[in-house]
Amino acid sequence: METALALLRAGEVVAVPTETVYGLAADATNGEAVARIFEAKGRPSFNPLIVHVASIEMADRLARLDPLSRRLAEAFWPGPLTLVLALTENSPVHPLATAGLETVGLRMPLGFAADLIARFGRPLAAPSANLSGRITATTAKAVAGQLADRIKLVVDGGASPVGVESTIVKVERDALRLLRPGGVTVRALEAISDRPVLRSAGKAIEAPGMMVSHYAPRAALRLDASHVGDGEALLAFGPSRAMGFAKAAAMRNLSPQGDLREAAANLFADLQALDASGAGVIAVEPVPNDGLGEAINDRLSRAAAPRGEGSE
Ligand code: TXA
Ligand code: MG
Repeated sequence: METALALLRAGEVVAVPTETVYGLAADATNGEAVARIFEAKGRPSFNPLIVHVASIEMADRLARLDPLSRRLAEAFWPGPLTLVLALTENSPVHPLATAGLETVGLRMPLGFAADLIARFGRPLAAPSANLSGRITATTAKAVAGQLADRIKLVVDGGASPVGVESTIVKVERDALRLLRPGGVTVRALEAISDRPVLRSAGKAIEAPGMMVSHYAPRAALRLDASHVGDGEALLAFGPSRAMGFAKAAAMRNLSPQGDLREAAANLFADLQALDASGAGVIAVEPVPNDGLGEAINDRLSRAAAPRGEGSE
């Protein structure tokens, strides 16, 4: 517990047991810490992550619980249910954890993870503790087998009792929609919510991180820019500048030193800031495509994609 706390305070990731599956946890309010999660998993894209809380009071500070969501939280927390909720105005959850969405998936886990969050005093973002594309880990040994050379600590809490990820639901007006089946059954949800659970038509999992045009700034993005055109804003990377940068309508540098982890942590906030400048076009300097750069470029190309293009 003490080792895990020290690492979390230092912005590191820690693998922790939960009742569903092992989670790869980091401070959900710290962009660089969240970036380290994607880095450790080797994830090619920034999916929104589930953010874990230790109490309903903590959830209330992060998101708005409508009456039905609150009833479900009271019935199933701590436990394998994730509620997708609107962020509060000043929610401390870092936009990298939500992939820039205006909603956040919240869950209160059971046991060690909940104690850790309560002691830490902040929410933890945690996807399953496996390499991207590999099998979900439900023991500390399985986690270590995939991630031992990438993270400093795996907390061994024995085998995860649930063994599948949490059920994800979202309240839409008065209806309840299933986004991912998981540890809480539809029947149990229907019993508590007193209404039928709607299933997403045609696809089992709605993964907003996979939408082609997902984070959609109003401005158009011009990628791999080597010069800045009239009226354009500039999203820079590293120490050297695109030609004509001095006349940019607005400028942000993802990382002046060219550090990809820092760039990942700044990505959503910088895009939002440049969009808010009112420029019609954001010119984006090239970002190297290795390590976290692959995820950054994936997000940039999604942000640059024509609006309304389908998913996947
Ligand atoms: O059991 C679990 O839920 C495990 C343990 C560690 O708690 N966590 C887990 O987290 O599976 P993760 O980050 O792998 O789940 C992310 C998925 C996304 O792919 C998406 O389907 C959904 O959660 N999700 C997250 N935020 C969302 C949002 N704002 N809107 C809709 N879906 C969201
Ligand atoms: Mg997973």
